[in-house]
Amino acid sequence: AGSREELAAQLAKLNLETPEYIEGSYPEYNVVDLCRNFIAGQLTKLTGVDKKIAYESLEWSIVLEKGDLLVPLPRLRLKGDLVQMAGDIAGKFELGGYLDRVVPVGKFLQFFFSPKFLLNTVTPDVLKRGSEYGSAPLGKNKTVLVEFSSPNIAKPFHAGHLRSTIIGGFLSNLYEKLGWKVIRMNYIGDWGKQFGVLALGFKKYGSDKELAENPIQHLFHVYVRINQDISAEKEEAEKTGIPLDENTCTDGQARAFFRKMEEGDEKALFLWRKFRDLSIKRYVDTYARLNIKYDVYSGESQVSQMTIADVTEKLKEKELIIEDKGAWLVDFKKLGHKKLGKVLVQKSDGTSLYVTRDLGAAIERKNAYKFDKMIYVIASQQDLHTKQFFTILDMMGNKWAKDLVHVSFGMVLGMSTRKGTVVFLDDILENVQEKMLEIMQQNKEKFAQVDDPKKVADQVGISAVMIQDMQAKRVNNYEFGWDRMLSSEGDTGPYLQYAHSRLRSIERNCQVRPEELLTANMSMDNLCGNEEEIRKLNLSEEEEEKQLRSLKLRVEKATALIRIMASYPDTLRYASKNYEPSTLVTYLFKLTHQFSSTYKFLRVMGEPKEVLLARLALFSAVRQILNNGLRVLCITPVDRM
Ligand code: ARG
Repeated sequence: AGSREELAAQLAKLNLETPEYIEGSYPEYNVVDLCRNFIAGQLTKLTGVDKKIAYESLEWSIVLEKGDLLVPLPRLRLKGDLVQMAGDIAGKFELGGYLDRVVPVGKFLQFFFSPKFLLNTVTPDVLKRGSEYGSAPLGKNKTVLVEFSSPNIAKPFHAGHLRSTIIGGFLSNLYEKLGWKVIRMNYIGDWGKQFGVLALGFKKYGSDKELAENPIQHLFHVYVRINQDISAEKEEAEKTGIPLDENTCTDGQARAFFRKMEEGDEKALFLWRKFRDLSIKRYVDTYARLNIKYDVYSGESQVSQMTIADVTEKLKEKELIIEDKGAWLVDFKKLGHKKLGKVLVQKSDGTSLYVTRDLGAAIERKNAYKFDKMIYVIASQQDLHTKQFFTILDMMGNKWAKDLVHVSFGMVLGMSTRKGTVVFLDDILENVQEKMLEIMQQNKEKFAQVDDPKKVADQVGISAVMIQDMQAKRVNNYEFGWDRMLSSEGDTGPYLQYAHSRLRSIERNCQVRPEELLTANMSMDNLCGNEEEIRKLNLSEEEEEKQLRSLKLRVEKATALIRIMASYPDTLRYASKNYEPSTLVTYLFKLTHQFSSTYKFLRVMGEPKEVLLARLALFSAVRQILNNGLRVLCITPVDRM
């Protein structure tokens, strides 16, 4: 986007007056904000209400039938008969070239943007700004840390991790688009007694070769086997009545081993470090397939013992923990938080716990990154845990505890592949790619035209998994349905990819240079035709009637499309406020459905050059928005499929 001066010059060219700038608006980035400024100015003029109040009272309209923006008059704090007032205001409202009409409905005013204005501003704006369309510097000079995915070494990568990865990847991109500095962090589960168990297991069952080749699977298998041994020992002890010897039984040895790790014994740490490094190396590749790159691979192991000691000290000092048989715990009920129960922060043997590490980690992150906001993307099973450590941080006196956000989400049901239960992210991705490739092969002709079918199958397949995950509100559980999500009919990832490749093909067929597109005459007359011209044709009455009807339809279709296109920047902003990927996904379906329906009436190929240019400019802009939206979702749009 240009500066505010450039915007004013641009508006002058369209014979529009620049509305007064209102604090907190981004008219040079977001056409809806420009209209907000205009409407607020008018409301102030007509009612005397404060500009800022008028601006903030403007609400987003979810359905086009109710306008592009609306204002509930009670929000303007006016006195009197509001229904009558709505009528009066609407009657006096100047449209100023920005609006098509103002409609009073009860105590509401609905504002409909002028399609002419939108066509002439939004289309060139999208084409000029390209991948930057939709962005705005809302988070200028602010830092957000997003912690997401956070799997556990030697344990399955389950659905909770998958959703955290998908939602977290989206949120990171979204905040980046909105001008924040984003730190992407993976907080690996790489600490705890299970690493003592794993080390013993590896000495017994491990293979360096397999570890190098397939670290994630191999460690998981070793972990499963050694745990079987532990269970067998326990059973044996129960059967025989001879108690286990803490010094020789596997579990006891594991405990001792982990204690040595916590004490910083380099020899004990050697194997653990290798497990961690190799696992992370493999994860880096898998995340790359999802277009995710972390800034920091942190983990529970990275929280320093000193920080944890400080935390415990502070908790004692503030009398937030009490001793219980040598262990220390927070009793929330006694501290005025009835619903949070109790939580152990230090075991009787002095070792730390999950919650303690989270407390330390948050403090260390605040010191290291000075974030303005920190987002945790963690499954709803950990709602209580998260509330507990957020509350403890707050009770400790950390003012920034209010800047912590838990983005929680529901479960995935029935996520299994042909080969059985899914345990690793790679399995899911391989499986979906295979299935997608099969589907693509069903259309031999199209398949032959795809350059790198495997890669396309990977990208489309992944988009199927991602869209399925993000299309409903994140609190909902959903059923993992291989066939449903891979279908190109209905609201699926492949459907969006298909729309993108179709738009690409329209562009390919026309072979117009991007600079030429910018010269398109975007008037409604040029785009859709006009009445006068039809009348001049001297058609039979019936034929003329028919032509006029289809003209009206074209105008309606073009209007609906451009209004949706205009609301993309606002959509991003809303999604960042409610941390909801579904806000963007729903938008993209709305956009692509409207494109399909508009394209039927506004054909491109074979039209006179002027018309072709305008229509192509419009659809190219649609493609650009779809492309931008998919990328925010971490999806790579495909050109052919
Ligand atoms: N590794 C944990 C698990 O798999 C998730 C970590 C969530 N993040 C956190 N800061 N506690 O359950």
